[in-house]
Amino acid sequence: MEIKVLKSYKELSSTVANIVKRQIKKHPLSKLVLPTGSTPLGMYKELVSRELDWSHAITFNLDVYLMNVDHPESYQSYMKKNLFEKTNIYPDHCHFPFRPTSAFEDKIAGSMGIDLCILGIGSNGHIAFNEPGSSFLSRTRVVNLDEQTIEDNSRFFGSVEDTPKQAITMGLGTIMESKKIVLMANGDHKLNILNVAMNGEVTEDVPASVLQNHDNVKVFYCD
Ligand code: GLP
Repeated sequence: MEIKVLKSYKELSSTVANIVKRQIKKHPLSKLVLPTGSTPLGMYKELVSRELDWSHAITFNLDVYLMNVDHPESYQSYMKKNLFEKTNIYPDHCHFPFRPTSAFEDKIAGSMGIDLCILGIGSNGHIAFNEPGSSFLSRTRVVNLDEQTIEDNSRFFGSVEDTPKQAITMGLGTIMESKKIVLMANGDHKLNILNVAMNGEVTEDVPASVLQNHDNVKVFYCD
């Protein structure tokens, strides 16, 4: 699987924003899966500046922490702040994983499937919150976060103690049903795990390696 190396974070952000833009322009009724974290922030900025018509688009977020949704660091707050409040997307068209998780899966299935899924990668190879050991067949579910993930994400919460320990995540099986997948990664610290995931053994110990089994994945990296 080929990893396309881009020159800068700006180029990474605009390359992925252009893919999203083309998708929405060509198919206004597109169903998109969207990520959070620090990597996609530039992409969202680029998308907002492109002033697209989001009025027919439907979005599903990859994951949410199990926490107060009004907390400024919840993924719901992140999406409102970085994309939803700055576009004409209908709040009713923006979906986040919820319980019962089978009802969230039904919502995706009822939308006739995902056209484009944008992913980041965690330092332990997770995608969404599918931690190492997650089944490749997994569906949306409640998960306990790995120590490494809690440590990584504590930068947003000030301390490990204040960082959520559980989340609801789309499953690897759910993600793999997307028609097209784009994975974006930024920073030297992601290069090794990215290489292992894209070129190493396909194993549940490295959740992102499941992407090697998909026939329409693009991977973009910048250091
Ligand atoms: C979180 C999210 C992932 C994301 C990862 C990497 O754990 N659940 O979807 O890919 O962080 O985030 P960052 O881009 O901040 O490195």
